Amino acid sequence: MVSLCVASQKGGVGKTTVALNLAFSLARRGLRVLLVDTDPAGAIGLSLTKKLSQAPGLAEYIVQKKPLAQLVVQSKLPELKILTVGRVAPEDAMGFQSALADGNVLKRIEREATDVELMVVDTPSGFGGATIGAMRACRYVLCPVQAEPIAARSVLRIFDVLGSLREKGANTEVVGILLTMLQTRQASSLGVAEDLWSSLPASLLFDTTIPRDPLFLDASASGVPVGLLKRRPPPVAMVFDQLAAELEARISIDERGMSNEPIALVD
Ligand SMILES: Nc1ncnc2c1ncn2[C@@H]1O[C@H](COP(=O)(O)OP(=O)(O)OP(=O)(O)O)[C@@H](O)[C@H]1O
Ligand SMILES: [Mg+2]
Repeated sequence: MVSLCVASQKGGVGKTTVALNLAFSLARRGLRVLLVDTDPAGAIGLSLTKKLSQAPGLAEYIVQKKPLAQLVVQSKLPELKILTVGRVAPEDAMGFQSALADGNVLKRIEREATDVELMVVDTPSGFGGATIGAMRACRYVLCPVQAEPIAARSVLRIFDVLGSLREKGANTEVVGILLTMLQTRQASSLGVAEDLWSSLPASLLFDTTIPRDPLFLDASASGVPVGLLKRRPPPVAMVFDQLAAELEARISIDERGMSNEPIALVD
């Protein structure tokens, strides 16, 4: 199994939106995906349904040692499963994050989820225990950067943090930096994008960028990935299909001997 976390120092840059929509697109491409929420604010559950936001999840896995199979929620898409954060009282949020900090909880989940090919982990903003634990446990980190001046400044911080984790034995690498909420018709937003394109190695930035689009707000208000917002998905949903394809080309997923030859259109 391969694991990937979505992390950034700054809050509100689109981590949860990316984790959910990317997990959905990857599952639609046929990968068996487990989406894990480590944010004590319960962002994934909250953005899906009220019922899911109150369901047991990661917290109950840690504290009550409940079996993973009892906590993982099957989505309507056969390839996509979700482990919500569970019930974390505000006063327990620090303890919850500390329990994740050494990465062992996520590593155990990775070992136990034997039917999963890719684990996608959403993290809270900043470098608290949940994020550090995810960066220790996962093979790859995807860093969303909001296309606005302040957000771009903090992007390189993740490399410092990753550097010190690697010195302590982590085997994690940045799989790519993803520009989010890009407004190509707004000079300041485009300026940030151009700065990043000219200052960072091309291999580090995803070619795909996520535009700012009110449909993402509609999708989270309706509790769905944007690809399920309408019977015929809106064009903006396709950016996550493109990102999923780009991501798959950057990571190696063990597909257990599946052929990668062209598929005949007719027999
Ligand atoms: N591409 C986009 N276009 C428009 N709105 C967006 C886009 N991406 C995310 N949003 C909205 O911006 C807000 C913040 O996004 P999101 O929750 O994904 O960020 P986050 O990085 O997970 O935040 P936090 O650090 O609080 O966990 C949400 O209301 C979300 O619906
Ligand atoms: Mg979030």
